[in-house]
Amino acid sequence: MKNLLQKLGLPALHLLDPEVAHGMGIKALKMGLTPTPGVFTTPRLTSKLAGMTLPNPIGLAAGFDKNAEAIAPLLQSGFGFIEVGAATPRPQPGNPKPRLFRLSADDAVINRFGFNNQGMEAIAARLARRPAAGILGINLGANKDSQDKAADFATVLKTCGPHVDFATVNVSSPNTERLRDLQGKAALELLLAQVMETRKSLPNHPAIFLKIAPDLEIQDLEDIIEVALSSGISGIIATNTTLSRDGLHSAYAAEAGGLSGQPLFEKSTRVLARLSALSGGKLPLIGVGGIGSGAQAYAKIQAGACAVQLYSAMVYKGIGLAREIAKELDTLLARDGFASTAEAVGTKQKEWL
Ligand SMILES: Cc1cc2nc3c(=O)[nH]c(=O)nc-3n(C[C@H](O)[C@H](O)[C@H](O)COP(=O)(O)O)c2cc1C
Repeated sequence: MKNLLQKLGLPALHLLDPEVAHGMGIKALKMGLTPTPGVFTTPRLTSKLAGMTLPNPIGLAAGFDKNAEAIAPLLQSGFGFIEVGAATPRPQPGNPKPRLFRLSADDAVINRFGFNNQGMEAIAARLARRPAAGILGINLGANKDSQDKAADFATVLKTCGPHVDFATVNVSSPNTERLRDLQGKAALELLLAQVMETRKSLPNHPAIFLKIAPDLEIQDLEDIIEVALSSGISGIIATNTTLSRDGLHSAYAAEAGGLSGQPLFEKSTRVLARLSALSGGKLPLIGVGGIGSGAQAYAKIQAGACAVQLYSAMVYKGIGLAREIAKELDTLLARDGFASTAEAVGTKQKEWL
């Protein structure tokens, strides 16, 4: 196994079924076969996010390490913070395979995993063994057959929350039926109240983020900002994958599921800028969707993000991308005369509205 993994570079992995290749990538990380050069940090990149200090604002998005198997190596791979999960209360297998597709011609991915995971108990046991250093979050999900999906978020937070720095309420995955209905105003109010009550009971009071879909109307975004500000959550992650299929060239474009990667960049950045404008900069925002370069991370920050996350671009460029992006971002900030990332946040918000 070790020899096989060492021989397989990224191009060879792409000859394999995407889910098999991803599994091998996680195994390679766990076995120490992937280079983990450490976090790239400078005073300019060091960022505050909801009370946490990030060595750089480039984060790993949820869904890459669904079962929290590779926390320690991922914290050393170059990211300034990582999010694992989604975890649901009970283990579940997810949707039938195939359920992950590479759209190489579009630098994109479609997935319809449907929260396949080993369940919160197994995941919490791994979170409990985390390294003390590094910023770690858990993505909270709901079981497919749950009678009360809203309650699932508080349940997972209670079990996993004591071991993390932040937790994300993911009501935006397109692959669990009726999940996105929880983004509606009344449902969201109740859900976030429950989650914030549970947070109060935890000794460490992790930051709570809400992750939203890119396929929302302006009125929906206005409601979400209102509820987010009144609920006392720490911030919003914008965005999850999209149902849109505009402008794709790949043969897999018609597959059902959520689309991520380059085609999502513009749409998710527009949602981010709109949230920034609506909140008047009062709510920390994390920009996600289609980031594949330092310039794109910088664009999200200038659109209003305090920090960013990425996933799909790593499918094409490998895990070393996090460090590369952090370095490039530092160079761009310096070029434009910013002494800190925070100074650049929202400076081009209007261009995206
Ligand atoms: C295979 C795959 C699985 C994902 N699983 C989750 C998940 O469990 N929870 C979640 O909030 N987002 C999940 N996402 C969404 C990503 O976290 C991210 O929001 C989205 O892919 C956009 O970023 P990107 O274009 O950099 O990939 C997943 C994305 C992919 C590609």
